[in-house]
Amino acid sequence: MNDKHLWHGRFGQAPAESLMAYTASIGFDVRLWRDDVAGSIAHAQMLGASGVLPQVDSDSIVAALRQAESEFAAGTFRFVESDEDIHTAIERRVTEIAGAAGAKLHTGRSRNDQVATALRLFAKRELAATARRVLSLIDVLDRRADEAGDAYLPGYTHLQRAQPVLLSHHLRAHAWSFTRDADRLLDAIARLDVSPLGAGALAGTSLPTNARDAQLRLGFAEVFANSLDAVSDRDFVAEAIFVLAMIGLHLSRMGEEWVLWTTEEFGFASLSDEHATGSSMLPQKKNADIAELARGKAGRVIGNLTGFLATLKGLPLAYNRDLQEDKEPLFDSLDQVNRGLDAIADMVAAATFHIDVMQRAADSPAAVATDVAEWLVARGMPFRQAHAKVGELVARSLTTGVALADLVRADADLGPDAATLFAPGVAVQRRSSHGAAGPKAAGVQREELRRVVAALQLRLP
Ligand code: ARG
Repeated sequence: MNDKHLWHGRFGQAPAESLMAYTASIGFDVRLWRDDVAGSIAHAQMLGASGVLPQVDSDSIVAALRQAESEFAAGTFRFVESDEDIHTAIERRVTEIAGAAGAKLHTGRSRNDQVATALRLFAKRELAATARRVLSLIDVLDRRADEAGDAYLPGYTHLQRAQPVLLSHHLRAHAWSFTRDADRLLDAIARLDVSPLGAGALAGTSLPTNARDAQLRLGFAEVFANSLDAVSDRDFVAEAIFVLAMIGLHLSRMGEEWVLWTTEEFGFASLSDEHATGSSMLPQKKNADIAELARGKAGRVIGNLTGFLATLKGLPLAYNRDLQEDKEPLFDSLDQVNRGLDAIADMVAAATFHIDVMQRAADSPAAVATDVAEWLVARGMPFRQAHAKVGELVARSLTTGVALADLVRADADLGPDAATLFAPGVAVQRRSSHGAAGPKAAGVQREELRRVVAALQLRLP
């Protein structure tokens, strides 16, 4: 019976090798074994409880499923050639173990609702695990922000020095983007928490099954309303891959900064040896490969998203084999993003910041220009006029080579009082508005971030 396929009744010939090579998904969907077993146990228990199967049959199917489960856990589960996917493999094994009762497992069920069930169970668990990793990275950023104290660096717009900002402010800026990612993961989990089991191939069944019972056994929050939708909906996969792509993108933006910060030209940070790589030819090199791959792999996870959206876009109801293409992009995006989150968190945790270099860069007189203009505004000058005046002083400083601070000190509207703004570290102290880059707002923000993270923790399943 091992070489018989599940649908063999109607067929006079075995499937061609080329068909199996092209259509089999066992190579990757084996990863769903735990979830397929869980779905099948719930289904078999429901069949027993609702009287579709005698309780003894239900019991022996469940026992066989548990045996298959322990074979998977022990690595001893044996596949045969006709196992085209994880679902057929497990059903085949259950039938071997439980005999005639095993052959009743698929009663009132199709692989179409089965695979959707397994994938939702998988996604629920795995997206929660990714959310935990995101929260760990936030924790690292928050910790490093605390350690940074009052250290500051240039803030940039257009990658040109703009205004000084606290290093803690910069690190927490990234933390905030990851709080939104964790929020999106938890939202995606809540939306996908719907059992499709009981939809059958597409239209339900004539047997007195109980979809609600199966849903509750599986711990889903809801049960499907429409069987066609239940088996053809992969919105949850697309959404999961989108959220993962967004995380990949945030890691990539951080990665780009770390590549810059660890160059000799910037010199803002150096990586620990453990989190850097060398060159096979250039003995002096220490490269930020983790940061570069965070950038590079973003392309790949964005590709998984666009590719899968293209797979979905033309599909008529209900199940089409195209939907089998849901798994690899999801698995790959999870793997890449999870590893990226871990690697970047470790890299940031172990890196050294060169505060002196950062602060010297931030103390450039140009970064104080806005404060000089605001100093004038505070004394009644319209901002546009103050902006033009300081702009002229900057231009004069550039053409004459006289320090901007000296020009300010000599200016009738400004004078020595305004020139004190150029003392190192003064400008950042003055960034005191709501959510701003200075120390006063930093304390408020620190508490706000912790409040948001604690609320996210509470929503983890
Ligand atoms: N391996 C298939 C998948 O991942 C299982 C469903 C097959 N269903 C079917 N009607 N051929 O989508």
